[in-house]
Amino acid sequence: MAEPILKWAGGKRQLLDALYARFPASYGCYHEPFVGGGALFFDLEPANARINDANPRLVNFYEQVRDSPDRLIDRLESFDDPESDPDPSLPYAEETARGRDVTNYYYQQRARFNSRPYAGTFDPLEEAALLGYLNRTCYNGLYRENADGGFNVPIGRYANPDWVQRDRIRRASDALADATIRNDDFDYVLDAADPGDLVYFDPPYEPMSATASFNEYSAAGFDRDDQQRLLDVAAELDEAGVWVILSNSGVMKAAYAEAGFRVETEGATRAINSDASNRDEVDEIVATNVPPSERRAAGQRDLAEY
Ligand SMILES: C[S@@+](CC[C@H](N)C(=O)[O-])C[C@H]1O[C@@H](n2cnc3c(N)ncnc32)[C@H](O)[C@@H]1O
Repeated sequence: MAEPILKWAGGKRQLLDALYARFPASYGCYHEPFVGGGALFFDLEPANARINDANPRLVNFYEQVRDSPDRLIDRLESFDDPESDPDPSLPYAEETARGRDVTNYYYQQRARFNSRPYAGTFDPLEEAALLGYLNRTCYNGLYRENADGGFNVPIGRYANPDWVQRDRIRRASDALADATIRNDDFDYVLDAADPGDLVYFDPPYEPMSATASFNEYSAAGFDRDDQQRLLDVAAELDEAGVWVILSNSGVMKAAYAEAGFRVETEGATRAINSDASNRDEVDEIVATNVPPSERRAAGQRDLAEY
């Protein structure tokens, strides 16, 4: 069993049992169109998997973990403590591209990360190392971009941050070895999934209220229209004989029930938000078209009820 390498908003580790309880007894390929931190994917380690995310930096990171784990670990080991002085041999040792003072090593790496994809020469390994480093040293493990795509999370305060995670990267690399990784909008899955396959959707959650912002994963966001498109895609997959499991916030419960899915509330989760006063609790639902009779754990659960 592998573990997630990145902290990612909406991580699903606390929901794993509820998701496994809906798994069909057998399925073909496993698809995860909103993979994010990949809590379910890494726990499951499916033999035949296609994963996807709209965030190109996240996708590049997983490609490097899969294809070059040792080089990525070496690169991560070359980073310094986030609070140490900027490295004078690297760019942005004194000020960012926008002319802001750089006071420590963390902000220097953040400035390098923000200049990188847009700067002409693109080194995918360095890009992945920077994402891994910033993810483990930034405030709250948040991934947030401002309107022009810059990663803008401040430095975190950790006594002893481990930004290398040697063993996790090696295990994750094995889990990813045979996986196809794409960088696309989720609706590619209509073409990619065959009858009998399993698709797990974990979209950015629809906020319960205007103040709860769940849509900070990428500059583009995910709005009501996207939620409706996703519902339509899920319904189309259902008609095509593809198994679907989906998690979302409670506001989408009625819509999935009306579309014929089995929907249950699975408790509450918290939004990761940089503003601590704004960490609303939201209901979390799991919707599926896998009937109880087709679920792999059905027999075991019946016994446990006696
Ligand atoms: C809730 S997170 C997934 C969390 C993941 N299950 C985990 O355990 O960490 C949603 C992901 O969807 C991605 N995303 C946002 N819009 C998308 C789109 N239109 N198509 C595909 N992925 C999208 C985001 O980049 C984010 O990584």
